[in-house]
Amino acid sequence: MIAVVDFGSQYTHLIARRIRQLGVRADIFPPSATLKKIEDLSGVIFSGGPQSVYDKNSLTTSISNLNLAVPILGICYGHQLISKLLGGKVTLGVTREYGREEITLIRESQLFQGLGKSQKVWLSHGDQVTKLPKGFTVTASSKNCRAAAYEAPKRRIFGLQFHPEVVHTEDGLRILENFLKICRVEKDWQIKDQIAKLFSEIGETMGYEKVLIAVSGGVDSLVAASLIHQAIGERLYPVFVDSGLLRKGEAEEVQELFKRLKFANFRFVDASGLFLKRLKGVTDPEKKRKIIGRTFIDVFTQEGRFVSKKEKIRFLAQGTIYPDRIESAAASQQAEKIKSHHNVSIPKNLKFKLLEPLKEFYKDEVREIGEALGLPKERLWRHPFPGPGLAVRILGEVTPAKLEILREADAIYIEELKKAGVYDEIWQAFVVLLPVRSVGVMGDARTYEYMVSLRAVTSTDGMTADWFKMPPEVLEKISSRIVNEVAGVNRVAYDITQKPPATIEYE
Ligand code: XMP
Repeated sequence: MIAVVDFGSQYTHLIARRIRQLGVRADIFPPSATLKKIEDLSGVIFSGGPQSVYDKNSLTTSISNLNLAVPILGICYGHQLISKLLGGKVTLGVTREYGREEITLIRESQLFQGLGKSQKVWLSHGDQVTKLPKGFTVTASSKNCRAAAYEAPKRRIFGLQFHPEVVHTEDGLRILENFLKICRVEKDWQIKDQIAKLFSEIGETMGYEKVLIAVSGGVDSLVAASLIHQAIGERLYPVFVDSGLLRKGEAEEVQELFKRLKFANFRFVDASGLFLKRLKGVTDPEKKRKIIGRTFIDVFTQEGRFVSKKEKIRFLAQGTIYPDRIESAAASQQAEKIKSHHNVSIPKNLKFKLLEPLKEFYKDEVREIGEALGLPKERLWRHPFPGPGLAVRILGEVTPAKLEILREADAIYIEELKKAGVYDEIWQAFVVLLPVRSVGVMGDARTYEYMVSLRAVTSTDGMTADWFKMPPEVLEKISSRIVNEVAGVNRVAYDITQKPPATIEYE
């Protein structure tokens, strides 16, 4: 296993995902972790991070002499930390930006085996190592950075000023693969083996127990439910709460899917009336989110109590995935709360034991598991949908009439994106109903109707996003269909804001 020590980089999870893609298990650890105690450790990667190594209270590792029995690779902040700890020098940079840059390999290195002399990389223009620790040599330089890579091959310690984990570093995967070779680690992280292991683990821990699970129609809870269902069959009790805030046809589709997949104990709870009642008159975004989260918990607690008492259920399963558990250390310390995210989470007063079969996996691995379990591809590759649903896409008060307008417009939008063959190029696309009306003309009559905003973004993890460069003819078709077919809308705008500064959702 490779331990990725997290110094707060936005790319920490990406490092772990890349290592897993290469067939080796990688887990993320905080800087305080006692690395020597980790079982099966074959190598360590120090991630990048937003700090300077000379900052007051800057993060460091518990193994300050770096005397580990396994190879170490430092990336960016990790590379500078190695230098600082072993007596080198780091000079503070003026910017924190990254940029594509060309480096030249100036010395043979096992880390760069099989690579051409000149390499395009994603280099950090921030702090730089300007004096090497004793016993280290520079292996690659760029125009503005002499120690773009350095190493002490005998000690098996390597440092990179650039990020091999991001796609902009063209041979990055090859560099990581070379590092794995240096670690002499076995490639034993295959999804199909993991599934077999999961089945036997679930079987063993569950014995003859029954399990309750809240499902939303989303990927994680669906894959978790299917996995458990295939392991313990009719002893699984999935509960779906219809909040009335879902997209057109979604509640029916989910019901249909669980029926088709032969979940004998699937329960459908229509709570749309309660959600709408509690949302009446509420316009503040954060209040809306809180009410929806609370209502989910209330409805699920009531249903869960009823079912679990009747069926004597002691376990509750959740579709928690790896990134849900592992927060980026420094980032989460510094992160300001932008929105309170709501997912169907365990009500504290229901005294269940937890079962989280997907807690070790990334989203792409979860999808792979889903495919292996025979779940429909279309479901597994759908755009993300937020827990509070359409409520955060209707700015201001949520009413049945507005929900109806938004559902119709959104259905047209998604249908046209699929028809145009661009749906899969987009991370997430949806329509937002704005709380303003404007004047238009329909036939000979003046109209005064709502305006909608189309959002479509590309992203890799939802943390940052760019607007999708939509072909104008596709936009035109969507706009004309929405204003002609959806009563109550007479104007359509396309949102071209990036995240940051905007968020993906509007509330
Ligand atoms: P923002 O709007 O923060 O969204 O840029 C980033 C990603 O998170 C999704 N999102 C949510 N997902 N529960 C979720 O499960 C939520 O409450 C929630 N709010 C936003 C959003 O759709 C985007 O993919």
